[in-house]
Order: sequence, then C-alpha cells, then structure tokens
Amino acid sequence: MNELYRYYFDYAASTPMDPLVLDEMTAFLESPESVANFSSSHSLAYAVQATLNERMQLIQNKLDLDAHEIIFTSGATESLNYVLRGFSNKYPKSKIITSNLEHSVTYKILDQIPLNKVFISNNLNAEIDLNELEESLKVAPSLVSLIHVNNEIGTINELNDVSFLCRKYDAKLHIDASQTLGKTRFDDLFQLADYITVSAHKFYGPKGIGILFKKKNESLPSLIFGSEHLGRPGTLPTHQIIGCLKSLSLIIENSYEKNSDLHKAEQYLENEILAHNAFILNAKNTNRARSIISITIPGVHAQSLQQMITPYIISVGSACNSLTTEPSRVLKAIGLGDGLAYSTIRISIGRFTKIKDIDQMLEKLIHCSIKLKKISSGVPEWFLK
Ligand SMILES: Cc1ncc(COP(=O)(O)O)c(C=O)c1O
Repeated sequence: MNELYRYYFDYAASTPMDPLVLDEMTAFLESPESVANFSSSHSLAYAVQATLNERMQLIQNKLDLDAHEIIFTSGATESLNYVLRGFSNKYPKSKIITSNLEHSVTYKILDQIPLNKVFISNNLNAEIDLNELEESLKVAPSLVSLIHVNNEIGTINELNDVSFLCRKYDAKLHIDASQTLGKTRFDDLFQLADYITVSAHKFYGPKGIGILFKKKNESLPSLIFGSEHLGRPGTLPTHQIIGCLKSLSLIIENSYEKNSDLHKAEQYLENEILAHNAFILNAKNTNRARSIISITIPGVHAQSLQQMITPYIISVGSACNSLTTEPSRVLKAIGLGDGLAYSTIRISIGRFTKIKDIDQMLEKLIHCSIKLKKISSGVPEWFLK
C-alpha cells in the first residue's frame, strides 16, 4: 500500500485501487490474450472472450443477473447520459423527475434535454418529499432519476417508497449509486430500480470504467453508434473490464456490513468531529454513509483550509464543484447560506484509512482552522453567517 495514502481523505472523489485489482489487471495485461480485440475471430480473441465470460458469469451468479443486464460504460457520467438522454430521445413527450441533491453531472445533462423537468423538494435532512413526487408521477410517462448515497453529504436516499410509487404510476426508476458500493448495502437496489449506475473508481477499481445495470426488458437508444459488444459500441476495454469485475467481486465478498475496521474508523471520525464545537456536522440526523462527512466550520474559508492542510487531501463541497466558484447546490438544498457553504469541507475515508491517520489529520485540521478563523475575523459579517 502506498505510504502517501495515509494523507488521503478524498475517497468520495476517487478511491485508491485495491492491490488485488491491480494484480489481476497486471496479470491480464501481461498475458498474450490481452492483445486481442474481443470481437475478432481467432484463437487469442476466443481466449479473451472465455476469460471475460468466466468473470462475468461469476458476477452474474453472485448478483443473480443476466448478461444483458450489465452494460460497461466509461463511468457514471456516461451512464447518466445514456439513461437521461436515451429516455428523452425515446419519449420526447415524457418528463424527468429528479431532486436538488444530485451530482452536478445530472444537472449539466438535464440542461441539454428539452423535456419537462421536475425537481422534487427535500427537507433539511435531505429527505425528498414523497407527496410531491406522487403528484408529479400522476402525469406519465416519467423517468425518476435519484442519487442513492450523496457524494457531498453522505446521506442515503431511502428508495423503497420511491420505487413503490414509480411502479404504481408506471414510471421508470434510475438510481445513481456511484457512491454506494463499499459504503453501504447495495444488493436491495436491484429489486427497486430499472437502471443503476456504478463507477469502478469509486469502489477501488480503475478509472474510466463503470457499469450501467438495466432490467432485462429495458432498452434505450444508444448515444453512440458502431459495432456493439456487451451492449455498447466500440472495442471493449478488456483490461478495464477485468479490473472493474474484480473490484466488484471484492465488494460483494467483503461487503460493507462485514468491514468492521471501516466501521470503527467511521465511528471514530464522527465522534471526534461531534466532540469539537467549532465543527458542524451536516445532515447529522439523517441516515448516512458515514465514510463521507460534510463539515461546516463557520468563519473558515474552505478553499484556504484545503490548501493549508497539505499534505492532507480533503475536498471542498464536492470534487466536481470545486472548480467553480458557485456555492454547492446540495448544501443550499439542506439550508446552508452562501457563507456557510463556502466554509464547508468534505472528508471521506475508506478501506485503507487507519485511526491513527484520522487522528493526525484532525490535529492539523484543528490547527489550520484556528489560524484561518483568526485571519477571517477581518472579513465582513455576512461571510461568517
Ligand atoms: C454520485 C455521483 N454521480 C456521478 C459521478 C460521476 O462519476 P464518473 O467519474 O464515473 O463519471 C460521481 C463522481 O464524483 C458521483 O459521485
């Protein structure tokens, strides 16, 4: 394990690759069969087809899925595009129902879609309003697309009732479960949704590969065209798929519930944050994936803190928001004003985080926060609110 990972507190942006995934990918890349194009018709291609089919079969058996229910994509961004734009192209008179708690990619895609869009409101605990959802669903056909584990605040969207309502009104349900694997249970989601998005670099696999799970009878028009293999046009990135399937099988074998070391680290981090009265733990009364922690430190400019806390690596709001100067939409949706949103950091831990690393990071976090608070005493009143 890379020594530098002890400074890494940004697992929600991307996880380190598990050494077992790396080993499996390396062994594959060093094998002659990795040279072959999956769709060729010679002995090397047959070998790579057999290897992939065998790994796929393992996952299908474990998750009780058919091969047609697994589409490899380049990650969650592509899967979200596939579902949202595919649905919009197929049903131009339909509408898309979502929330104000989604990943920024969802809003960027929706901006490009001419359909009617409905953003269901939520309370300060990040729970969406089911009555509002039901009213909206009465006009079919609809696609409901909701995030499961929130990438900024860790809250878990309870989707049983949402799924029930979708079935009642014959709407389709897509779940953005990019943050779910390795942070909470996920097997139940297969009963609830028509489409599920996951991305390997969020669960200890390689970047640039993800899976869109879809129900057997579901189909959406492709956004790109060419020869299709395993449901997607283009030459299959076989080494990425090998890595993705390995990371998924590790998640299934060592499910979140069994990972007592991670539970202890999460509990420790949360207790320490709660014990310190300069820190406000956001969405603390909501069911959360506790490896993602959103903390507001009034009077402390989050981006300055992020720079000052080096070599520790933390995030400001969400990684995908940090390049913009706009306050996070999610933080605003749970009631934070602009000033508090700009004073909010995200700390996210995972499989390789040790309690002693948390301790050392917190020590530096407190030290830097005190320094920045002193500096900020000269800033205008509105910023501190
Ligand atoms: C909830 C959620 N959805 C979508 C994405 C986009 O994922 P990818 O990097 O796989 O495109 C992310 C990444 O931060 C995410 O956290």
